[in-house]
Amino acid sequence: MSTTPQHHQEQTVDDSTRLATVDDHATLGTVREHQGPDIWCEDLVRIYSTEGVEVQALQGLNLVVDPGDVVALVGASGSGKSTLLGILSGLDRPTGGRARVAGVDLLSMSRAQRVDYQRHTVGFVWQQTSRNLLPFLSAAENVALPTVISGRRERARRVEDLLDLLGLGDCADRRPTELSGGQQQRVAIATALANSPAVLLADEPTGELDDTASAQVLEVMREAAGSLGTTVLVVTHDPTVSDHVRRTVAIRDGRTSTEVLRYVVTDESGEQRRVAREYTVIDRAGRIQLPQAHVEELGLRDRVRLEHESTHVQVWPDDEEHRTGAGRAVDTQEDDDD
Ligand SMILES: Nc1ncnc2c1ncn2[C@@H]1O[C@H](COP(=O)(O)OP(=O)(O)O)[C@@H](O)[C@H]1O
Ligand SMILES: [Mg+2]
Repeated sequence: MSTTPQHHQEQTVDDSTRLATVDDHATLGTVREHQGPDIWCEDLVRIYSTEGVEVQALQGLNLVVDPGDVVALVGASGSGKSTLLGILSGLDRPTGGRARVAGVDLLSMSRAQRVDYQRHTVGFVWQQTSRNLLPFLSAAENVALPTVISGRRERARRVEDLLDLLGLGDCADRRPTELSGGQQQRVAIATALANSPAVLLADEPTGELDDTASAQVLEVMREAAGSLGTTVLVVTHDPTVSDHVRRTVAIRDGRTSTEVLRYVVTDESGEQRRVAREYTVIDRAGRIQLPQAHVEELGLRDRVRLEHESTHVQVWPDDEEHRTGAGRAVDTQEDDDD
């Protein structure tokens, strides 16, 4: 299948708006003790059974995310995004398949391991601002809470550093009701990062915010994760995220379908520009899913014709004319297979 590169012209990010980085706060960064990817799912299945009705929310999902990567997860409502995040966060168990996060096997975890996993390995941010924070605690107290529970040392310093990192230096003593929606979500991100998790999971964290606040929260989240070395999987409809993260994965009917990778290339004139390229997942059996837009545009259905070139495979609509020709070639044994 040929992929169509799309070229995006992009302005460079203004460095003066950069937030504090991990160099300023050496105690904050993520420490990994495992090798390999931070998120690894193979043929993940989740079936919900309610009153005899089965819903296959995940139908053999494959996903690999490397340490430190920031990945946007997009997909229609009901495609299984929240189900996936629920499993990766340790709140829910898959029905089948395999999943490992930061080296922890999510299917064989004991109850005690699960508690430890939720405290130390993953951080979670929900869409509902009210669900992320305790209303009677200040921003600083909310951020401190996970570190109190896990008995971390140098708590006050750490809380201060995290609030600083998320641009909330002057909000420490305010309660959630005294903060804007965007500020509340930034406190929620700081709280989720409090115990230096390897992975930050966020399910539509800006779903209740306006465009400006939304863009700001996502930018700050990316910056913070980047400087801490945290891997991020964020469910979002916001095009400003998918345009700015290196990798956007689309999920369809409980499976990862296509993804877009963005990178910087230097052209002949030495000029740097960002390039976005579309990919599709290929599973162990060699199955791939074509983007819906290509399928509709080319009227692909039932079966498609493949042409194997030396470096790639072409996918063609199944036109009958060609099929008749191919049939004759077989009949007369004129097999000029190259
Ligand atoms: N607790 C549940 N019980 C039964 N069905 C559920 C439950 N949670 C989600 N589903 C179903 O699973 C599918 C995927 O849902 P979800 O993961 O919430 O999708 P998304 O977050 O992409 O909108 C949907 O068909 C949804 O109705
Ligand atoms: Mg959802």
